[in-house]
Amino acid sequence: MSCSSFRSFTLAILIAILVWSSATDHHSCNARRDRHSRSISTSFSKKKSTNHHHYHNGGKSKSKSSSHKAPPSPVTPPKSKVPSAPPPTAAATYNVLDFGAKGDGSTDDTKAFEGAWAAACKVTGSKIIVPSPYKFLVGPITFSGPYCQQNIIFQVDGTIIAPSDFKSYGSGMFQWILFTKLVGLTIQGGGTIDGSGSIWWKETRLSDPLDDELKLIVPINGTTEQTPNSSISGSLGGKMPSIKPTAIRFYGSFDVTVTGITIQNSPQCHLKFDSCVGVSVYNFNVSSPADSPNTDGIHLQNSKDVLIHTTDLSCGDDCVSIQTGCSNIYIHNINCGPGHGISIGSLGKDNTKACVSNITVRDVVMHNTMNGVRIKTWQGGSGSVQGIMFSNIQVSEVQLPIVIDQFYCDKSTCKNQSSAVALSGINYERIRGTYTVKPVHFACSDSMPCTDVHLNGINLKPIQERYHIYDPFCWKTFGELISPAVPPVECLEMGKPSSSHVQADHDTC
Ligand SMILES: *[C@@H]1O[C@H](CO)[C@@H](O)[C@H](O)[C@H]1NC(C)=O
Ligand SMILES: *[C@@H]1O[C@H](CO)[C@@H](O)[C@H](O)[C@H]1NC(C)=O
Ligand SMILES: *[C@@H]1O[C@H](CO)[C@@H](O)[C@H](O)[C@H]1NC(C)=O
Ligand SMILES: *[C@@H]1O[C@H](CO)[C@@H](O)[C@H](O)[C@H]1NC(C)=O
Ligand SMILES: *[C@@H]1O[C@H](CO)[C@@H](O)[C@H](O)[C@H]1NC(C)=O
Repeated sequence: MSCSSFRSFTLAILIAILVWSSATDHHSCNARRDRHSRSISTSFSKKKSTNHHHYHNGGKSKSKSSSHKAPPSPVTPPKSKVPSAPPPTAAATYNVLDFGAKGDGSTDDTKAFEGAWAAACKVTGSKIIVPSPYKFLVGPITFSGPYCQQNIIFQVDGTIIAPSDFKSYGSGMFQWILFTKLVGLTIQGGGTIDGSGSIWWKETRLSDPLDDELKLIVPINGTTEQTPNSSISGSLGGKMPSIKPTAIRFYGSFDVTVTGITIQNSPQCHLKFDSCVGVSVYNFNVSSPADSPNTDGIHLQNSKDVLIHTTDLSCGDDCVSIQTGCSNIYIHNINCGPGHGISIGSLGKDNTKACVSNITVRDVVMHNTMNGVRIKTWQGGSGSVQGIMFSNIQVSEVQLPIVIDQFYCDKSTCKNQSSAVALSGINYERIRGTYTVKPVHFACSDSMPCTDVHLNGINLKPIQERYHIYDPFCWKTFGELISPAVPPVECLEMGKPSSSHVQADHDTC
């Protein structure tokens, strides 16, 4: 461990402790997990071996778990009777091999995973084992939680691989692996989740979104940047379904942790959290080729209280994408690249209202990415983005390190509209390194200018690669230059816009 990574590790622990101890009023994942797993696993420890045996012998009683009418009632720990001993050493464990999984990379092991889940679901704090060096071929699968106990652990040390044909996905699915309505789920281990994405990347559609910022990047030799070749023709796996699946998606869950694993080669986004509260992702990697289309690393939507750190993200689209409904997001110690950078948005598509607040992104290294830190909104949206901090972002050979684009449009033209998602309180500090196209691009809405945009410690140097290099650009961007920027960002307008742009009631978040 290098000196600096040890320091950041120590810092991460300190921050984790701070965040944890200050979380008195809302979900305190660890505290609750400990309390419950101790009390409940004690009371279940006698039953678990019989459970396991039952399933080991091929018993199928999935209906049992799903026939529960009431959600699991919380068990109150008996006071003082239980000494503060460590939790029982033998937690209930369910190895997928015991449920008939072959792990040879070609036999369909979906049923075995479903069996292991049905068993683990019944026991608080139970553990599903996905052992190495096995490679488990698993179809589209759902780990559904509304009637499951809390704090289940997926110990993934082996490899889980997706089918490499389209037919398993029928006419289309949002994801390959879904975790839904769970409390306290953890995925841990040192294993790999492989989405077998290459067949999906080959076939792009005209309707697939293109990154709008491509338009800002003009090669010196005059030819336009290569856009992916559209071929709608079917290939080996049959006709491609209408939706490309996300590799792992969490929906409607509380206190979720993903650590230790790598997700690679997703057909589309790698890891998505939708409508979750209390998310922790660390010591985690995403790996896909730079030219794999629309392969976001981590995608957050309608989620709160999210911590992402100590993570390497290489992919073909945004390393992290923060969508509407997100607040209290803290992202630090990330390596991003290749990829399109870290983005808030796109927001406000099809005249929708978007609300994003309290986002911190710090201590990030970006290499060879299209954008650095970016906020992108569509014309015609409403709502707001406020309280954003981008701090200590080190860029190297990044095309567009700092971007606000309120005219986002993934087609060739979009119609001009006056309403916009309002942007305010956007802070950039210590954004340093090299760029290959334009250091700063602020394109704010005519009717709803960006306000309180603060720049502090911007130091960006051009590297002539294959592109035209441009000066900083600003349009309707107001705020403050806290320290001189390199290069100078003279286009930033100091103070507030003269006419007050009062948000209509329906725009307030
Ligand atoms: C021009 O630049 C593009 C993009 O970098 C590249 O693909 C193409 O081969 C170049 N063409 C020539 C004639 O150099
Ligand atoms: C796209 O690829 C097909 C087959 O690989 C090729 O025939 C076609 O000319 C390509 N189209 C473009 C626009 O490059
Ligand atoms: C992520 O990748 C980095 C660099 O290759 C490596 O040092 C680290 O161990 C990886 N982490 C995981 C969880 O695989
Ligand atoms: C902002 O988010 C952080 C987590 O990143 C949280 O600790 C803090 O309490 C939040 N602030 C507000 C005002 O909600
Ligand atoms: C939209 O607005 C831009 C900037 O004001 C202008 O250049 C463009 O012509 C407008 N487009 C349409 C379709 O009105």
